[in-house]
Amino acid sequence: MLEMRNVTADEFVHWLRAESRAHGNRLAHDPEELRPHFDLERSIAVFENGDIVGGAHSHRLEMSIPGGSTVVAGVSNVEVQPTHRRRGVMTMMMRRQINDVHERGEPFAALFATESIIYGRFGYGVGSVHEQWTLERQHNGYARPQDSPGRIVFVEPADIMTELPEVFRRSTVDRPAVFQRAMHHWEQDSRAPEHRQGGSGGLFYAAYESDGRVDGYVTYRTRRPSLVVNELMAATKEANAALWRFCFDMDLIERTEAIKRPVDDPMPWLLADPRRLQRATRDGLWVRVVDARAALELRSYLASDRVVLEVRDDLCPWNDGRFELATSLSGATCRATGASPDVIVAVSALAPAYMGAASFSTLAQAGLVEECTPGALLRADRMFAVQYRPWTPYNF
Ligand SMILES: CC(C)(COP(=O)(O)OP(=O)(O)OC[C@H]1O[C@@H](n2cnc3c(N)ncnc32)[C@H](O)[C@@H]1OP(=O)(O)O)[C@@H](O)C(=O)NCCC(=O)NCCS
Repeated sequence: MLEMRNVTADEFVHWLRAESRAHGNRLAHDPEELRPHFDLERSIAVFENGDIVGGAHSHRLEMSIPGGSTVVAGVSNVEVQPTHRRRGVMTMMMRRQINDVHERGEPFAALFATESIIYGRFGYGVGSVHEQWTLERQHNGYARPQDSPGRIVFVEPADIMTELPEVFRRSTVDRPAVFQRAMHHWEQDSRAPEHRQGGSGGLFYAAYESDGRVDGYVTYRTRRPSLVVNELMAATKEANAALWRFCFDMDLIERTEAIKRPVDDPMPWLLADPRRLQRATRDGLWVRVVDARAALELRSYLASDRVVLEVRDDLCPWNDGRFELATSLSGATCRATGASPDVIVAVSALAPAYMGAASFSTLAQAGLVEECTPGALLRADRMFAVQYRPWTPYNF
């Protein structure tokens, strides 16, 4: 007999241990350090005879969306014990979690998936995409000389909190699907004693300073013969060009790799020989539109228009219906309607369209969206267009 409920404070360590085990790990962190960052009212555990056989959690977070930001349930710690898989335990938890998120009035849930096959069935869709790069040293020249009057300085881990969080913020303004890095994560990184910073292959921080201001930074590791860019944030074009140049020109390095870049990153446009940049794309954040009506009113739109969307959602009856969305450059209204639809969209496809990861037209070509009124796809594309493509550099 399975019982599903929140975990209690006494069960917290047991619950964490179960999660680690499900991922094939032993506990890697001191549970007491993690405890303050969990809200047990947002936890779920499935018990069988007192043993935890599955668990999940969500953090209340702020995520950027086109034109602003919103509260989102950041789903984490999803696990089912290897002894209890493929019996519907995760399905129970996901249904309950989506209902809880709705009851709390949070319009979205979002997560990073260990496997991309898992969450589409629960109405999640790809909300951001990123690229992995590899560039050989002999092909990393810029097409034109870049004017970067500033200088690059190393930043000690102890000092990263002074400037870098603000650079992260400035560099991601106007980009959807971003979570600002939690201050306790910056703190954790800044507090790590030197012998815990990785030794060979440890992380280095370097910043670009100009006129006394920090406009960019890179965090990288050396894995000879590669330099691996963990994160590069630039708030100005000068910082961007200078920081990549710094990485590209490092001695004893034959290639530069980057683990997670936006699909519309400007760097490839700097290169003289851009075909040499090897790019591999993969799904980033998975987003679940939990309250379609509220969500549609929250973002901004790039065209004034009116469209009736019919959302298909098996799990959330409040989403399953027609919504008249009226947009202008100053805001949007969305209300339930009985009018005939212009576009029919599966809820899992609403997420990429909403976030700007894919257009309605592309999704229609994949059979996830249906155009009922001729021309409606193009109109919807214009409304939902984004200046910058969604990117999720920080995994909460
Ligand atoms: C992924 C995981 C949570 C699934 O739990 P589960 O209880 O076995 O899932 P369910 O039994 O509810 O499965 C629901 C459906 O998803 C499918 N499914 C679940 N996990 C899958 C996987 N890894 N690959 C392919 N299909 C999967 C099931 O076959 C089932 O399909 P159906 O509805 O067509 O029958 C569990 O395998 C697990 O803990 N894995 C290790 C940790 C992990 O990856 N966690 C996810 C973190 S994002």
